[in-house]
Amino acid sequence: MKPLYQSVLKKFTPAQRELALEKALVEKIREKIENIEGKHSHIEWCGSSARGTHLRGDRDIDLFVMFDQKISDTELEKEGLRIGKAVFRGKKWKKAYSQHPYIRGTLEGFDVEIVPSYIVEHGHLKKSAVDRTPFHNRWLLQRLNEKKQKEIRLLKQFMKGINAYGADLKNNALPGYGIELLVTTYGTFENAIKQIASWKPGKIISFGADEKIAKENFKGAPLILIDPVDENRNVASALSLEQFERMILAAKLFLKKPSAKFFFGAKTEKWPKEKVEKMLKKTEIISIKGKFPATILPDLIWGQLARYEKKVSTHLKEKDFSIIRSAHWSDEKDVFFLFELEALELQKAKKITGPFASDSENAKRFLEKKRKILSGPRVENGRLVLEIERKEEETSAKKILEKFLKKSKCEEKSGIRICIKSAKVLAEKDLLREYKGKFAEYFTLYLGGKEVFE
Ligand code: CTP
Ligand code: MG
Repeated sequence: MKPLYQSVLKKFTPAQRELALEKALVEKIREKIENIEGKHSHIEWCGSSARGTHLRGDRDIDLFVMFDQKISDTELEKEGLRIGKAVFRGKKWKKAYSQHPYIRGTLEGFDVEIVPSYIVEHGHLKKSAVDRTPFHNRWLLQRLNEKKQKEIRLLKQFMKGINAYGADLKNNALPGYGIELLVTTYGTFENAIKQIASWKPGKIISFGADEKIAKENFKGAPLILIDPVDENRNVASALSLEQFERMILAAKLFLKKPSAKFFFGAKTEKWPKEKVEKMLKKTEIISIKGKFPATILPDLIWGQLARYEKKVSTHLKEKDFSIIRSAHWSDEKDVFFLFELEALELQKAKKITGPFASDSENAKRFLEKKRKILSGPRVENGRLVLEIERKEEETSAKKILEKFLKKSKCEEKSGIRICIKSAKVLAEKDLLREYKGKFAEYFTLYLGGKEVFE
């Protein structure tokens, strides 16, 4: 194996000691659960830790408590929670929600989930979404060996390094399971990278499922990665076109010039404040700073932040601002929305084009409408044209955003409402004052405007 890959694996494979502790803990919990009186049948250790494909520092253990289908949904839920609580007795735990609620908690430094699941004949016969997971596990275990585990860890860390890992609403990329499927399909990390580099939107990996049906079912998805245990599911359903294209770009650049930065992310030096100040003089950026709600599930919030950013952009466009780009960032404490515009201030004069002069009815209505006319009416290209005066508050992006924030405080979902409760619109000089800590690191990358691997 190439020295680069060896060094990546050395850094990102969990230590032997760690793996031994993990295994011992799983056996301890298994014994405990199997000794609890109840209707459950057995335990299945699932997720990447069960397959030896997790990365160092990932301390998730997913344990599935298996039940016969004769047991009702309510009973499964009740039993699952009872067993979960018994596992963590005296320790910290929380109720978490999937299709059914379940218990997750911390034991010996590991994040352990106790998930109740039905024993079904086949993944597509699932009674609840989690019932597929044990099938994923078995499907992969049949195809993995030590070599493949390494190749998977390489591809996972590559995707992490380029910021395209995770099917959550923050990342909109592939889940770990999807990456494992790519390696089982393509054999090695390097071959996977070669193949990814030649993907086009609409790429399909079907594991023998009918491709025509799959294309119909998942129309518009940039990648259709059929779940080999359930052909009705696209494992890549969360992957956005942006992340899909980012994977391809990174793969192409890596093939041209392999380097550690793809895995580790490039080391970015924070720009000195003076450099940021200079850059802000040449660009037009306005921002909204809010708070990340502590009481709502982060994944929900990430989705809402993305939607709110779009909404604000749309509003600015409606008000005639040209947007160069927009973004949002959070360390799950502070939230920043950033909008780079062609101009932060619009001219007083706004040109509006009306109907053809010959279209009497509409022309009359156009000219009768009350507005402050600066120039016109005149005919241009056959149409009536007016230059009218914008209201004072309609020329400033800052004022428009302040007004929009106020309105959002009443209209938005509770997550965004909490986020913007005490939010402020930041002009460039205010933004400069916020230039510190983690945000400064991000803002340096933002202003540089490059992918981390470029
Ligand atoms: N799973 C899935 N689709 C997702 C997320 C999870 O099918 N979008 C299933 C997979 O069977 C996965 C299991 O749930 O193996 C556990 O989920 P998770 O811990 O998120 O993923 P891992 O496969 O363990 O990968 P990672 O190394 O990223 O933790
Ligand atoms: Mg996991």
